[in-house]
Amino acid sequence: MTNPSILILPGDGIGPEVMTEVEKIIAWFGEARDLKFNVETDLVGGAAYDKHGTPLADSTLEKAMNADAVLLGAVGGPAYDDLDFSVKPERGLLKLRKEMDLFSNLRPAQCFDALADFSSLKRDVVAGLDIMIVRELTSGIYFGEPRGIIKEGNERVGINTQRYTESEIERVARSAFELARRRGNKVCSMEKANVMESGILWREVVTEVHAKDYADVELSHMYADAGAMQLCRYPKQFDVIVTDNLFGDILSDAAAMLTGSLGMLPSASLGAPMENGRPKALYEPVHGSAPDITGQGKANPIACILSFAMALRYSFDEGAEADRLEAAVETVLANGARTADLIGEEGVEPLSTSAMGDAILAALAASV
Ligand code: NAD
Ligand code: IPM
Ligand code: MN
Repeated sequence: MTNPSILILPGDGIGPEVMTEVEKIIAWFGEARDLKFNVETDLVGGAAYDKHGTPLADSTLEKAMNADAVLLGAVGGPAYDDLDFSVKPERGLLKLRKEMDLFSNLRPAQCFDALADFSSLKRDVVAGLDIMIVRELTSGIYFGEPRGIIKEGNERVGINTQRYTESEIERVARSAFELARRRGNKVCSMEKANVMESGILWREVVTEVHAKDYADVELSHMYADAGAMQLCRYPKQFDVIVTDNLFGDILSDAAAMLTGSLGMLPSASLGAPMENGRPKALYEPVHGSAPDITGQGKANPIACILSFAMALRYSFDEGAEADRLEAAVETVLANGARTADLIGEEGVEPLSTSAMGDAILAALAASV
């Protein structure tokens, strides 16, 4: 791939702060590894609303559709809480995911050894943890119709609809099985087939896809509520978890705390392969815009940096360079570098966002 294109959408709150660190790292790969990218930056979320009156301008969507990869910081914040629902920052992100058809959202939760004592769970429970949540991202209750707030007699009724077609379940199941083959070869599918018809269909389709094409992968099923409990009790029993849009959103935030901080969790949102064989892709940290720490230099940039590592792996076929970046993160953590979110009550002096970025750059430089 010659000079692949990256569209950077820093977004709101700490989004631009963590993205600045990623931009430094992208520049380093260009200079030190001759991995040059055509980088373009644009607005999304509240920042886009402020300029264009919409959280995702058509011109931005078009750029995203044509980019080899999109990197997004975070969207949302209190300044936009009272906006009309249709133009809220989050709608911009949801539209991007939907229009780009990014149905498979990979949310790895890996516990770096250096952080095992920082998790709210015991070291033994989380040390060495390496699981992958595959969240369906473009359907389910986030997008199902009918939806809205209507009047029924004297009261208002809020409506959302959980809806899944067979093909939507099949394609995300396939992506989970494919991933499992390259990891621990196990998939646990989570739904609530005990109370939801969409859950019954989910379980049936996953079972059929498995029997037809992935019988070599170990498959189990769990109700999502029990799955949440098992994630806290004994998370290392899992390899790949495949689940719907809403359960995946919740379970992945829970999984984040197994790794020490929400500021650690990256994600990749992938579509079907394009003509060039690569998927349309958007990479973003799992965390949000963190209004409580915005503008204070406290944000942990690691989730966003590890999201770029996922881009190197899944969009640019640079697995070895992705390994290099992940190893650099592991090194700085092993050396004791900590942003404020990774320090307990009696902790050492925290690094600022940019100091953490610089430490990772130094570890990268030392790796070549
Ligand atoms: P949040 O993830 O922004 O913050 C939750 C907590 O985690 C906060 O205490 C925050 O300070 C902390 N945190 C998050 N990321 C951190 C980081 N990198 N370093 C250190 N600490 C970090 O979730 P929220 O407060 O529920 O939501 C705030 C806004 O973000 C809302 O508008 C929400 O809709 C939006 N949001 C956006 C995305 C996204 O853009 N993908 C994801 C989640 C939430
Ligand atoms: C996430 C976020 C989003 C979601 C919001 C901001 C639309 O929570 O990416 O996890 O619910 O999918
Ligand atoms: Mn979420």
